Amino acid sequence: MAARIRKAVFPVAGLGTRFLPATKTVPKEMLPIVDRPLIQYAVDEAIEAGCDTLIFVTNRYKHAVADYFDKAYELEQKLERSGKLEQLELVRNVLPPGVRAVFVTQAEALGLGHAVLCAKPVVGDEPFAVVLPDDLIWNRGPGALKQMADAAEVSGASVIAVQDVPREQTGSYGIVATDGFAARQGRIRAIVEKPSPEVAPSNLAVVGRYVLNPRIFALLENTTPGAGGEIQLTDAIAAMLTEEAVNAYRFQGTRFDCGTHLGLIEATIRFALDHEVLSDSARQLMQNALSELGVADLE
Ligand code: G1P
Repeated sequence: MAARIRKAVFPVAGLGTRFLPATKTVPKEMLPIVDRPLIQYAVDEAIEAGCDTLIFVTNRYKHAVADYFDKAYELEQKLERSGKLEQLELVRNVLPPGVRAVFVTQAEALGLGHAVLCAKPVVGDEPFAVVLPDDLIWNRGPGALKQMADAAEVSGASVIAVQDVPREQTGSYGIVATDGFAARQGRIRAIVEKPSPEVAPSNLAVVGRYVLNPRIFALLENTTPGAGGEIQLTDAIAAMLTEEAVNAYRFQGTRFDCGTHLGLIEATIRFALDHEVLSDSARQLMQNALSELGVADLE
């Protein structure tokens, strides 16, 4: 049995240019899916997996994420005084008791690997998670990170989330080759960042959930810029493969790529239809919209 992860790193320093003009002022991690910002889903998944220390790697322009996790005294007082206790609970539970948020600045946008390396002084010498909030994962049972943390605790190996993607999309992902799978896990033989379909070793793509042994930091320190001129986490993982086992994990759940417009829309629809209060009305609204547009098409 290996140590259980307690710390999760959230790289949130990106510019979110795909969502301009909204991201001129609102970081993409703060875009809502129904009633919560993307970052809240990521944080909830990490807490469910057992993390109590959340490390946000941010940049100096992005105060909104830090403000969101900060205590909002005036707002809480107002809600309390006006008896809005349900809303008060929502505001207070952004971070449950016993969970702390730590903010680390990434001074230059040098890539995902570099962002993770920025968290080294806070993580120290223990296994930890990396969660990319763009990848929103919906599951009725345990969250993807919990599934992976349980697997890592048993094997002691680093674990990386994967899913099959159409071959023409390999250029958007880290792609792994494995020695086959037993249940949901397979040992990774090769990993490469954003290969074109012709040279991709498979169509098994890395999704933004990682449980990593701290050895990754030393490897990141020696990683030179790779795909897109950035310091890639994938390249440090490739170096790790030559030293120790790293497993790919086919998680249970549906992943939405909220780094794209359509992924964000798809996630909104799914979470609305599954919402405990809003689902019936959401279904009705969608039916109305479809039939209205259908009528408009005929005109
Ligand atoms: C990052 C990783 C890539 C991974 C992807 C998952 O890429 O570098 O290996 O497949 O996240 O979302 P990005 O989407 O940040 O370009």
